Amino acid sequence: MSRPPATFATARLVARIPTADDAPAVFASYANDPAVTRYLAWRAYERVEPLAAFLREAASHWEKRDAALPLTWLLCLKGTTTPIGSIGVTLEGSGRALFGYVLARKFWGHGMAAEALAYLVDWTLAQPSLYRAYAYCDVENPASVRVMEKAGMVREGVLRRWHVAPTLGPEPRDCMVCAKVR
Ligand SMILES: CC(C)(COP(=O)(O)OP(=O)(O)OC[C@H]1O[C@@H](n2cnc3c(N)ncnc32)[C@H](O)[C@@H]1OP(=O)(O)O)[C@@H](O)C(=O)NCCC(=O)NCCS
Repeated sequence: MSRPPATFATARLVARIPTADDAPAVFASYANDPAVTRYLAWRAYERVEPLAAFLREAASHWEKRDAALPLTWLLCLKGTTTPIGSIGVTLEGSGRALFGYVLARKFWGHGMAAEALAYLVDWTLAQPSLYRAYAYCDVENPASVRVMEKAGMVREGVLRRWHVAPTLGPEPRDCMVCAKVR
C-alpha cells in the first residue's frame, strides 16, 4: 500500500505531521471554536491537554505499520509555523482514500482547503493501488461540498443518517458524499 508524503507544499500552504507540542497553537487557532467543529465528529476542545493527547496519537499513526490508521497533517501558511488547519486521509483498503479537513475561521473563504485537498486527491489517484479519493460532509455544509468539487470530486449522493456531529446532537445526520475515481 502506498504511503502519503509526510510533508507537502502547495502554492500557499505547507503540510506537516503534528506533534503534541502543537496543541496550544492548534487550540487557539481552530480546535476550541464550536463554529469550526459544528459539523465535525468531534466537539470543540475546552482544554489543551486532551488535544495534546489527540495530536500525540495522530503523530504515532505515522510510525505504525497499520496502513488503515488515519494520517493527519497540520496546515501552515508558507513561511510561517502557526497551524491554520488540518487535513487527514484514511487509506481504507479496497483502493479507497477517505479525506477530512478543517480550517480556522479566520482563513475561510480563500480556497485553501480545496488547495490542500486537490494536492492529496492528485497524489491518491497517481498511486497504482488507489482508485477512489472521496469525502463526505453534512448536507447543511455547502462550503465543504464546494471544497470537494473544487478538488475534482463529483457528487455521488446523500448518505442518509450517516454521521454524528456531537455539537449538533446525538442523532446521525445526512451527508453528501463526493469522489474522484480513476
Ligand atoms: C468547509 C471549509 C473547509 C471550507 O474551506 P474554505 O477554504 O473556506 O472554502 P473555500 O474558500 O473554497 O470556499 C467555499 C466555497 O463554498 C461556497 N459557499 C460557502 N458558503 C456557502 C453556502 N452557504 N452555500 C453555497 N455555497 C457556499 C463559497 O462560495 C466557495 O465557493 P466558490 O469558491 O466556488 O466561490 C471551512 O469552512 C471549514 O473549515 N469549516 C469547518 C470544518 C468543516 O466543516 N470541515 C468539513 C467537514 S467535511
